[in-house]
Amino acid sequence: MIYLDNAATSFPKPPGVAEAVGEYLSEYSVSSGRSSYPAAVKVSKKIFTCRQNIAKLFNISDASRIVFTLNATAALNTALKGILRKNSTALISSLEHNAIARPLNYLKETKNINILTLKSDKDGYIIKEDLENKLAKKIDIVAVNHASNVFGLVQDIKTIGAICKKHGTLFMVDAAQTAGEIKIDVKDMNIDILAASGHKGLLSPAGVGFLYLRKGIEFPPLVHGGTGSNSEQSIQPKFWPDKMESGTLNIGSIIGLEKSTEFILKRTVKEISEKKSAITSYLIQNLNQIKGLSLYGPDNPGPDKPRSDKKRTSPVSFNIAGKTPSEIAEILNKKNICVRTGLHCAPMAHKFLKTYPEGTVRASAGYFTKEKEIDRLIATLKSI
Ligand SMILES: Cc1ncc(COP(=O)(O)O)c(C=O)c1O
Repeated sequence: MIYLDNAATSFPKPPGVAEAVGEYLSEYSVSSGRSSYPAAVKVSKKIFTCRQNIAKLFNISDASRIVFTLNATAALNTALKGILRKNSTALISSLEHNAIARPLNYLKETKNINILTLKSDKDGYIIKEDLENKLAKKIDIVAVNHASNVFGLVQDIKTIGAICKKHGTLFMVDAAQTAGEIKIDVKDMNIDILAASGHKGLLSPAGVGFLYLRKGIEFPPLVHGGTGSNSEQSIQPKFWPDKMESGTLNIGSIIGLEKSTEFILKRTVKEISEKKSAITSYLIQNLNQIKGLSLYGPDNPGPDKPRSDKKRTSPVSFNIAGKTPSEIAEILNKKNICVRTGLHCAPMAHKFLKTYPEGTVRASAGYFTKEKEIDRLIATLKSI
């Protein structure tokens, strides 16, 4: 299998991840935070280390402010539904994933919230002056996709964070496509709320994500229930992370995430970033040579034009004249080359690219992708 769908979920996982999960399942598959026998203590320690690893990766000083969720979607829902009240206003970019757009539209229907969309330049970058202008009025949250899952455009979140801080507005970053691939420092970038999946760039199995909330941000959890702490009380504990984590966690996936974040910390985000950037450039350069193929994105101006130095990440979207994305996928499927086609849960981004409603073909390389795998994709696309 040639796997080029890492923007959906990463594959393969780093060495040791499957073994760690397998060992948990076969040797000590017990609950955490509820009991004091040795296996339970071992599980709790692994979860503790995983939280510490995430704190190190994102420069979070208090790891208890990191809450494990099912995925990035659950993390974003928790924050949006916790923060936004009747008639609140949310400000988003024009490239948001449905993980932000749908909960907001639900809140619009049920709580009459206002959703404002930032203007972007011709490439898709948020226009800073528009952000400044819109923040002059009361905005309850700025929620921005760090990188587009459709065409890899990376927003300048450090500048956006600084502007939000100046205006005293909460700033939430959807880092589903960048966590583990691009350096994120919540302090340096003034990020109040960070949401990410474990199974994409953080290289864990599916079923775990996290939400970070800066100290001082408090709202009720989405789900109330047992935490293994303060069980004599009929109400949710007030302390973190128990306040926000009810019920048994997805321990197996968290143990996988502990191992994969250990791998990322050892390799460093810088090295991972450079490697993914090199393989993505190789992909783009080769796609650029194919006649009749249109690439989308800020640094994909075509073979005759200079490449822009603007930052991008690994999802690369394209179309081939005369074929629909699903026709292309059918041909690639027969060769066991895995890409994604359609709207990639981000219709807003396709409206921006003018590729709505058919969408695009998206190839997304991962840390382990090899040039020869890209060559196989390119050869098949050339034959098309
Ligand atoms: C930008 C973005 N946000 C959110 C999500 C949702 O992630 P998850 O499937 O882990 O909930 C995705 C997944 O593709 C994404 O690309």
